[in-house]
Amino acid sequence: MWRVIPVHSKSDRKQEEQQEKQRHDDYYKKESQPRILAPVHWEKFDSIDRHIHGYTYSVKCLGNIKDKRVLDLGCGTGWFSVILAKRGALVDAIDISSEAINIAAAMAKINEVVERTSFRAGSVYELDYPENYFDLVIGQAILHHLRHKDKVVMPLYRIIKPGGRAVFCEPFGESRTLERIRLAVPVPVDEEDKTHWDEQFKYRDLDTFRALFKVRYREFQLLSRLDRLISYGPFVNFLGHLDLALLRYFPFLRRYARSIVVELVKPKAKSTCSTRLGQIPTGL
Ligand SMILES: C[S@@+](CC[C@H](N)C(=O)[O-])C[C@H]1O[C@@H](n2cnc3c(N)ncnc32)[C@H](O)[C@@H]1O
Repeated sequence: MWRVIPVHSKSDRKQEEQQEKQRHDDYYKKESQPRILAPVHWEKFDSIDRHIHGYTYSVKCLGNIKDKRVLDLGCGTGWFSVILAKRGALVDAIDISSEAINIAAAMAKINEVVERTSFRAGSVYELDYPENYFDLVIGQAILHHLRHKDKVVMPLYRIIKPGGRAVFCEPFGESRTLERIRLAVPVPVDEEDKTHWDEQFKYRDLDTFRALFKVRYREFQLLSRLDRLISYGPFVNFLGHLDLALLRYFPFLRRYARSIVVELVKPKAKSTCSTRLGQIPTGL
């Protein structure tokens, strides 16, 4: 079957970058301050057995990062870069917003990880790092900001070592119906959370990466997305565990998940395949 591949010009991309920079500079100027993180922020991952959130699962996917060279893509205020550094990684981080990068550098300073971190303002479309440089790339909620995902595949592939991986945790928007319901519910949302449904990650976006990477993925959160309405933590936690069973035994529900963790593996020798995370042995 034929699939129409959108053709984007360089000026479309530049325009997107300018808009993202402006929007995020404004946002970070208003909303963000560097803050000191407590050890629980980087130690908690080791005691989690069953991951009900994509975020913690994405850290598990990274494995042992001690002295690994890791890139935090779209690092925002650098809170996650600090966590990676505290967990032993040598961290490079990039974001289009220079306001974010200023806060991130201050975060690294007050959290005493300056020697293990390096921040730069720039675009993920132009990753000016040496070839085969990173063991791992991580991105928290960055891919869905990129309207030209096809243009990031090659830059990513170039900087990751053969056998290295990229892990992304993204808001997932496969179901338009569910998104309509979400937007109809009158709960306060964070400025950063007002992503349009059509920009949230979709299964079809996985195809963009399949030409060069082995692709694995896993969906998270069905009922526990009601945490916007239910403030009783233990009940939300219960729903999270129920979600694990529902998503495992009823695959047709996965398209209604709230987030997705995507893992891209750069093969040691060039080949392609794709599967769901956790269904084939890792350590390719
Ligand atoms: C939802 S925020 C996530 C930030 C951070 N990863 C976090 O979890 O807090 C998305 C980030 O992507 C950045 N961004 C958007 N387009 C970008 C691009 N082309 N290159 C680099 N960063 C970009 C924005 O400036 C913003 O900081």
